[in-house]
Amino acid sequence: MSAAQEETISVPASYGQTSNTLAQYEQQYTRSIGSVAGTADRFWIEQASRLDWEQRPTRGDESSFDPVEIRWFADGVLNICHNAVDRHVAAGRGDDRAIVFEPDDPDGAVRRLTYRELQAEVVRCANTLKAMGVGRGDRVTIYLPMIVEGAIAMLACARIGAVHSVIFAGFSADAIAGRIADCASEYVICADEGRRGGRIVPLKANIDTALAKLAVKAVLVVRNTGAPVPMQEGRDHWYDEASRDVADTCPCEPMGAEDPLFILYTSGSTGKPKGVLHTTGGYAVWAETTFRAVFDYRPGELFWCTADIGWVTGHSYIVYGPLLAGASVLMFEGVPNFPDHSRFWQVIARHGVNIFYTAPTAIRALMREGTSYVEGHDLSSLRLLGSVGEPINPEAWQWYHEHVGASRIPVVDTWWQTETGGIMITTLPGAHGMKPGSAGKPFFGVVPQLVDNDGKVLDGVAEGLLCITQSWPGQARTIYGDHDRFVLTYFAHFKGKYFTGDGCRRDADDYYRITGRVDDVINVSGHRMGTAEVESALDSHHDVAEAAVVGFPHDIKGQGIYCFVTLNAGIEPTESLVAELKQQVRAQIGPIATPDHIQFAPALPKTRSGKIMRRILRKIAEHEFDALGDTSTLADASLIDGLIADRRNAG
Ligand code: PRX
Repeated sequence: MSAAQEETISVPASYGQTSNTLAQYEQQYTRSIGSVAGTADRFWIEQASRLDWEQRPTRGDESSFDPVEIRWFADGVLNICHNAVDRHVAAGRGDDRAIVFEPDDPDGAVRRLTYRELQAEVVRCANTLKAMGVGRGDRVTIYLPMIVEGAIAMLACARIGAVHSVIFAGFSADAIAGRIADCASEYVICADEGRRGGRIVPLKANIDTALAKLAVKAVLVVRNTGAPVPMQEGRDHWYDEASRDVADTCPCEPMGAEDPLFILYTSGSTGKPKGVLHTTGGYAVWAETTFRAVFDYRPGELFWCTADIGWVTGHSYIVYGPLLAGASVLMFEGVPNFPDHSRFWQVIARHGVNIFYTAPTAIRALMREGTSYVEGHDLSSLRLLGSVGEPINPEAWQWYHEHVGASRIPVVDTWWQTETGGIMITTLPGAHGMKPGSAGKPFFGVVPQLVDNDGKVLDGVAEGLLCITQSWPGQARTIYGDHDRFVLTYFAHFKGKYFTGDGCRRDADDYYRITGRVDDVINVSGHRMGTAEVESALDSHHDVAEAAVVGFPHDIKGQGIYCFVTLNAGIEPTESLVAELKQQVRAQIGPIATPDHIQFAPALPKTRSGKIMRRILRKIAEHEFDALGDTSTLADASLIDGLIADRRNAG
């Protein structure tokens, strides 16, 4: 990293409403982490008081990391849908814009919903769900494209106390089935079809395949493209028909702060995806507080987060964070490069977007196309830019700042995870200068710590493994149905600490720079992928003896998927087998998991005790042939030269 890249870029003083000076940030931060006994609870109860509670919490943090039990605001009672929707209508903000929907096809219909209209739609959906039998605590699977019904369905579940489990619309039938079965969800909401980048996604067909071996009570189908799809008598219902005659009021179910709000499946180092569980009160406070402070939101502004509601970023910064704050949010059905690479900039100009939040992979893909697509679009409405999902390389940061932000608009690089519920490390516009490639400072309530492999705490300027030492309101409470796995995954590496799975560097100014995952999770275009999942999809092919999957640096995607595959004896490696294996992964997980490279290997490098040496495979995939490290424990070191030669040939 050159000195220039470490330089701090200052932010104009006009920024920052919540903590607009460094002194204010520091004072609030100190309170928020409870450096002085009792202040943290008071700080967080103050933040919580921006929300409506049927019963105000008097208790703050009652969490423990050993034994692991996370609990916040335990005596509080509230409904998050009331807070995100009805509260604003009741306060006379019913005519404010809530959601602006921009379709995939630029010539398609823009849809605008005020908070009052959103309330009516949510009530309609909630009553329809109730009529189908959905009740408090029931898990409802939502498999919808980026249409307003996605947000409406989530809020409707929350309104009646049902637990939503949103599945990204790019996942395949097998992936859906696994997620429905895992949380024993008996209700599904999907659409006939989705649209994305001019292509059609057969959502109902995927659900039908997923449900071939699973019994659910009801499937509610949103008519989106209008395509004819088979409907199973007694199980499937068209949403427009089922919702026609429902009542136009629906009370919000009073929920305990620790009642479950949603499950979201995410990949880990091992095994199948984990159902990360978030509860109501702490998540609501975290989503609202982080949204307001990090994006420095001002009434009337339009906020656009380009994520999908199928990921946590969509949950927290398309739906809950902005709506809890009474903001206006843009929902985009499409992709950055359809019909051409200027789509993002067209949308910003068309709707006058003020705050834009996207992923480095999109920035890199657009950067590659040159600046001509950005130029000529009126981006003068922009006031703040954000980045999320993966490390942003300084070049991409600079391009974003210069060409999208006219070198004058601050960029917040926000580090967080599905498990953290919301933003954890970022600069706050107004309080902090920016360093391209560094996420920045801990948000209120976040206490980061770097440790080495043995758990030794590293002070000062250091590089190590990123842990968080005390709970924050938005923290995941458990893995649905498997608390032991929760404890084992996050709290067993370093006792008494939450281990993030990320590597991180802290500089002399106490800025944190995330270096990427240190476990067997790879980050492909900001999508989190477990290498074990891809391996198991490959292993299930009848010609495959064994597979090992690792990440490798990819110019656009951040990381690509590299697979070493050993075939069964007598099977010839062919191009068509490569295609078949890629298809196998797409079918079992989804297109986002498609391998970039498949390298056939006569055998995989193993220790004498039979453990695959992934460290070596990772280096080979990364073309780091001189950095293989200690190979003395290999059972058969002669393998390596052949693997390297084949890697060189693969380009
Ligand atoms: O490796 C980190 C990376 O994304 C992981 C979390 O993925 P997920 O749970 O899918 O949530 C993504 C959206 C919050 C982290 O462990 N990551 C996320 N944001 C950043 C990041 N890496 C570097 N910089 C970021 N700003």
